[in-house]
Amino acid sequence: IKKVTSKTLQDMKSRGEKISMLTAYDYSMARIFDDAGIDAILVGDSAANVMAGFETTLPITLDHMIYHTQSVARAVKRSMVIADLPFGTYQGDSKQALASAVRMMKESGAHALKLEGGAEITDAVKRLINTGIPVMGHLGLTPQSIYKFGSYEVRAKEAQEAATLLENALLLEEAGCFAITLEKIPAALGKEVASKLHIPVIGIGAGRYVDGQVLVMHDMLGISKDFAPRFLRRYLHLYEEIKNATANYITDIKKQDFPGDREQY
Ligand code: KIV
Ligand code: NA
Repeated sequence: IKKVTSKTLQDMKSRGEKISMLTAYDYSMARIFDDAGIDAILVGDSAANVMAGFETTLPITLDHMIYHTQSVARAVKRSMVIADLPFGTYQGDSKQALASAVRMMKESGAHALKLEGGAEITDAVKRLINTGIPVMGHLGLTPQSIYKFGSYEVRAKEAQEAATLLENALLLEEAGCFAITLEKIPAALGKEVASKLHIPVIGIGAGRYVDGQVLVMHDMLGISKDFAPRFLRRYLHLYEEIKNATANYITDIKKQDFPGDREQY
């Protein structure tokens, strides 16, 4: 099997093939996604929300992220595994960022790391890349800064914020990032950034003109029930399916249908 690398993703952009990416946090799901042919798996710090039930991504630790990433990496044969560095583990200075990144790379089996931010983190980004660690940027809605922004609304609708985002995207490319994630911005801005950058731009709520798409697996599979932003397409409604299956299981136990004659020793 030919493994997906940053070079593979770059080649895909060059020939206009869209890049597919999904989050995963555990072995079993990562195995299915990899088997289905997903190009990249993001071990997102959205694990804080969907795995741990926190309201924001701030509480998740580097140790938690290493655990999730190890689980995913053990399952994957072909996909590129990209792990988020969590809040507070890289914003101090480039030394702190390198220490966190090196721990993640040594212990987790990640192939690359994702960091949120623009100009304020380019020193850290350069230091990681100089050390040999591929880095993906993340601009637009950056959930680690949610208390600064105050809401999960669409970002960069105004010209000033859009110009700053484009500037930051160019800075990240110049710093050596192999790709950038753009979250929840107007499609026209996604298009502009993707056309001005040579590296792949992966969108979530950034429209169809970027170079690839990523969704949180719980949203794509309909496991999360109340989260329904416009950008989301659900491919299953697993919340209902799992709830119904569980109700059937309970019923079968109560009426002593399960286990049946052929389900016991
Ligand atoms: O943590 C995450 O799942 C992410 C994606 C939404 C891009 O960063
Ligand atoms: Na994230």
